[in-house]
Amino acid sequence: MKKRLISLRVNGRTHEIAIEPNALLLDVLRQDLQLTGSKRGCDDSSCGACTVLVDGVAMMACTLLVASCEGQEITTIEGVSEHGSLAAIQKAYGDWGGAQCGFCTPGFVMTVKSLLTENPDPSEDDVRAALSSNLCRCTGYNQMYEAIRAAIAAEHSAAPRSENRRASLDRTGDGARPHTSIGND
Ligand code: FES
Ligand code: FES
Repeated sequence: MKKRLISLRVNGRTHEIAIEPNALLLDVLRQDLQLTGSKRGCDDSSCGACTVLVDGVAMMACTLLVASCEGQEITTIEGVSEHGSLAAIQKAYGDWGGAQCGFCTPGFVMTVKSLLTENPDPSEDDVRAALSSNLCRCTGYNQMYEAIRAAIAAEHSAAPRSENRRASLDRTGDGARPHTSIGND
């Protein structure tokens, strides 16, 4: 199949890449750009392990033609660090043990990033709805939800907003740990 040259913006850098018309974004990221953080966990768009941001919106890279991404800003898990440090959600995943094998983690992190950009103060239902397309095969979801809650709290404390705080983000006595009622094993 004849290839054509496209210009692709990924994690703030522009790449000139020769692609076949039916090339998928996930394959180009992993094989052409060696950005292997995004995973292929299924072949039927059901796991979310391949989730990346396209102009800030969470999309499944395994079903996206890379040709359709020209002119858009793609962000992968490799691009979410903030000022050279782990993003709040990445740090919270580590702190709360939100991952076991970690295969699903990039997809979860990207989905959460998209959610928090769109809605900095999501309810528990919002979080559950946003993550409904992401599957984890080897751990319960409790620690993940705790990590997400911690990331939301960290972002709020970094940019304090006294109003509009959700009651569900209430903290326990010493203020260090969020409560644990969001579990969904
Ligand atoms: S690899 Fe894309 S949804 Fe599973
Ligand atoms: S931590 Fe292993 S698949 Fe989620």
